Amino acid sequence: MCGIVGAVAQRNVVPILLEGLRRLEYRGYDSAGLVIINGGLKRVRSVGRVAGLEAACTAHQVHGNLGIAHTRWATHGVPSEANAHPHVSGSLAVVHNGIIENHEALRIRLKAAGFTFTSETDTEVIAHLVELYYRQTQDLLAATRAAVAELEGAYAIGIVCEDSPNRLICARKGSPLLVGLGIEENFIASDVSALLPVTQRVMYLEEGDVADIGLLAVSVVDAAGNPVDRSVHISELSADMAELGNYRHFMQKEIHEQPRALTDTLLTAVAQEHIQPEWFGFDAAEVLGKVNAVTFLACGTSYHAAKVATYWLEAIAGIPARAEIASEYRYRTSVPNPDALIVTISQSGETADTLAALNHAKALGQDKTLTICNVPESALTRASRLKFLTRAGPEIGVASTKAFTTQLAALCLLTLVLAKLRGRLSVEQEAAYLAELRSMPNKVQQVLALEPQVEAWSQRFANKHHALFLGRGVHYPIALEGALKLKEISYIHAEAYPAGELKHGPLALVDEDMPVITIAPNDQLIEKLKSNMQEVRARGGELYVFADGDVHIEESAFVHVIRLPGGSNGLLSPILHTVTLQMLSYHAALQKGTDVDKPRNLAKSVTVE
Ligand code: F6R
Repeated sequence: MCGIVGAVAQRNVVPILLEGLRRLEYRGYDSAGLVIINGGLKRVRSVGRVAGLEAACTAHQVHGNLGIAHTRWATHGVPSEANAHPHVSGSLAVVHNGIIENHEALRIRLKAAGFTFTSETDTEVIAHLVELYYRQTQDLLAATRAAVAELEGAYAIGIVCEDSPNRLICARKGSPLLVGLGIEENFIASDVSALLPVTQRVMYLEEGDVADIGLLAVSVVDAAGNPVDRSVHISELSADMAELGNYRHFMQKEIHEQPRALTDTLLTAVAQEHIQPEWFGFDAAEVLGKVNAVTFLACGTSYHAAKVATYWLEAIAGIPARAEIASEYRYRTSVPNPDALIVTISQSGETADTLAALNHAKALGQDKTLTICNVPESALTRASRLKFLTRAGPEIGVASTKAFTTQLAALCLLTLVLAKLRGRLSVEQEAAYLAELRSMPNKVQQVLALEPQVEAWSQRFANKHHALFLGRGVHYPIALEGALKLKEISYIHAEAYPAGELKHGPLALVDEDMPVITIAPNDQLIEKLKSNMQEVRARGGELYVFADGDVHIEESAFVHVIRLPGGSNGLLSPILHTVTLQMLSYHAALQKGTDVDKPRNLAKSVTVE
């Protein structure tokens, strides 16, 4: 979604802003713009890619030591130059992430006060409101504080003014924003990855903070106007982590990074001989020891991870578990259970629906909260009592891959911790599960070696309009994830069903034009799954089966089989089967020639409802 970068320096900041925007491109956007203060206020905006903005900056010879820049993902108003940020009022300019819910009332008031609107955006009201107070106070910080006090909704904003050539003001509530600290130069960004080429020292702003940023100093006041110190973090990320290297797409790179991402995520756990609750926080034993149920709240791919975990938790830890789509849970009337563990799962840690669902759960008196998240210091990690950081590294491709499998790895650990706390693991089982986890990265590496076979299959998919994914038990959510991956990057309509449901409806869709992708692990349901496959064949359907190495399935002209290395993979099986489906979607999308890393209409971090 939208991205913000700002800089105040003693050098030309235009290349810094453009590089920052390029590093935010993965979040999804449809227009971009910047304002530079250099004598006066110079604004450049363009619809489409950052490369277009860069060309326009070169053409207009824009340069200067202070500026703000933005990538916009349209919400209020179409993608157009007029709607692109920054928005200007008088001598100042504003970039904004989030949604201002009371923008209509403010617009009426500001129009009555004589302001002219030139865009359809909610953001333009912020620019005029700050300008209104700036005219009264001639103090940019005071004007910003007065303006944000009237905003309802979510915002991260950056402001520059031609009267203050060495000063950047920013504020946040509900949308992430951080300050990057350099040497006699400072920055702002909505995502640390935008600033990695210039600094790894960052200060995360808290809800309601307003910061005044100069060349040499940064001062922050909280929502009440009290000066506050916010701690400085050194980001573990490096600038080259977001480089493509030898890969054609970030999605492909991220699929292949999974052995490394899983190794990093499991590092602390597998180095130990025993399962430890402290993997989830220093007081995790106390919290997890008391819970009698688990409720997961998540969206999209992260929701699929949650669904997998419900199978593991009930079967291995013997604890009731349910997964809820965050955008549904936040609005439905539910029966609160104060002893349930509320687990949010999120790659970004900023998903608006998941955050709102967590706040809703807490408001219902459910305060035993854990987040499994890939971004330290994100809104979800800060709002949760316990946390587990997956160490996937930055995920640039919009379609989640390594974030999903590392979430599953974290959920394996949660299952084992709860199983141990509830006395469900013998010493032998504990050792066996830890050994399984240690083998995970290597087994994923072996599955990646199947890529040429999967690629060969993908050639048969490119001309299809629909596909059906089947799984049973814990592999049903993996089928859901496979279908989601295929539809989001190849635009082939895909649906997933538990295979036993076929005859209750979806079988009506099956004919020779419907590829049926089937996950066939060697588990207790395999014979039932084979019967479901017969139902497909009897209707002329063509089967593409990912099977464990020791599953016997007769291949034929219409039954194609790719075998995963080895026999049954127990706890790891859903993770290994996921990797094959990721490769299938990736190669199907390549065949179709879609924009794999930036599929249409989608954004990486969904920070609005
Ligand atoms: C699909 C995908 C999305 C996200 C969803 C939640 O490939 O990436 O479905 O999983 O938008 O995002 P996070 O995990 O950041 O909360």
